[in-house]
Amino acid sequence: MYTTALIGCGRISFKHIEGVVSNSDTMRLIAVCDPVLDRAREKREEYQKCCTPSDVSVYEDYRKMLAACKPDIATIATESGKHTPIIIDCLDAGCHVICEKPMALSTKDADAMNESAKRAGKKLAVCFQNRFNRPVQKLRAALEAGRFGRILHGMVQIRWNRNHTYYAEAPWRGTWAMDGGTLMNQCTHGIDLLQWMLGEEAVRVQAKTRRFLRSIEAEDFGAAIVEFKNGSVGIIEGSADIYPTNLNETLSIFGEKGSVVIGGLAVNKLEVWRFADADRIGDTEDRVLNPYEKDPPTVYGFGHDALFKDFVEALDTGREPLVSGEKGKKALEIILAIYKSQKTGHAVDLPCDFSTMEMVGEFNT
Ligand SMILES: NC(=O)c1ccc[n+]([C@@H]2O[C@H](COP(=O)([O-])OP(=O)(O)OC[C@H]3O[C@@H](n4cnc5c(N)ncnc54)[C@H](O)[C@@H]3O)[C@@H](O)[C@H]2O)c1
Repeated sequence: MYTTALIGCGRISFKHIEGVVSNSDTMRLIAVCDPVLDRAREKREEYQKCCTPSDVSVYEDYRKMLAACKPDIATIATESGKHTPIIIDCLDAGCHVICEKPMALSTKDADAMNESAKRAGKKLAVCFQNRFNRPVQKLRAALEAGRFGRILHGMVQIRWNRNHTYYAEAPWRGTWAMDGGTLMNQCTHGIDLLQWMLGEEAVRVQAKTRRFLRSIEAEDFGAAIVEFKNGSVGIIEGSADIYPTNLNETLSIFGEKGSVVIGGLAVNKLEVWRFADADRIGDTEDRVLNPYEKDPPTVYGFGHDALFKDFVEALDTGREPLVSGEKGKKALEIILAIYKSQKTGHAVDLPCDFSTMEMVGEFNT
């Protein structure tokens, strides 16, 4: 049984509580921490409603919590710009860490986190939970089985609405120091999926970003073309400005012998499934598509439960988690290269060293 502590009890933290609850055969929550104590108490209650009897300590200072409780696993859901020091402290204190996305806001910080995990001999995972969506796993299995033949191109569209109220709710959102713009916050999941399917080795990025409508520092729209080492090309379209509400998040992957499109509100709905070998395999499109498939209740989907399960399996077997810190850095690096391309007006080669802080003032004209 892995003792677990939650650091950061805001908007997304209910997904971490659900993740521990759904893995209660292997994980037990022992502490929650937030400088806003009421938020921490609320999480304790959420957990205790599902798992009784259970002692959960409440802390406002995570360092005191680490010293007193010595959890096996720390899960981090603080503002993105605060992840790095907290995660390094947790790793140094002997915890394995599950961290919200994006893991950091600069390539240097991501490297420091990965080096700390290595030095401490601890596992680090990043919450790209959409990798565990059922159709995404199905697509990945087809890809790994070689059913696409040569992979040609892919596209991710994130057409969502994050309005004034969303940004006003938490002043850190949309800032270069704590968040980045919609590409770093909302679109990072889709960008992770795109790069995962297109070979995980992005070599060049050309992009335009804009701050069209929102009163934030960072971008609310971005368009990019990403070239991969295997020759495939990825196209990214991400917006927080879609009128009047969230429209779709869609991943399309096209190969020589296969086409797959997964859409819905947040890549949970299979829309196209066409393969040259479909008759032989027995998964022709009419058999696979389910017209009654529904979107999950929130855009966060159901993936945290599976990601936490995968993490525990990684600890038990000694393998890396599916979305390790090294894998989690890949989408971050692409987004930072997009930012750099916007700033310089040129294509950017990867590996690339960049930070959201280098974008300060970009849209101030
Ligand atoms: N995986 C997803 O789909 C998903 C969805 C939303 C947000 N996120 C990510 O989760 C993170 C949090 O986002 P949010 O919307 O929940 O933010 P939020 O502002 O609602 O919550 C952050 C919480 O962290 C607390 N906190 C700050 N410093 C702390 C510290 N030193 N110790 C303990 N707690 C501290 C704050 O008081 C706040 O309660 C961000 O990195 C965000 O990008 C991920």
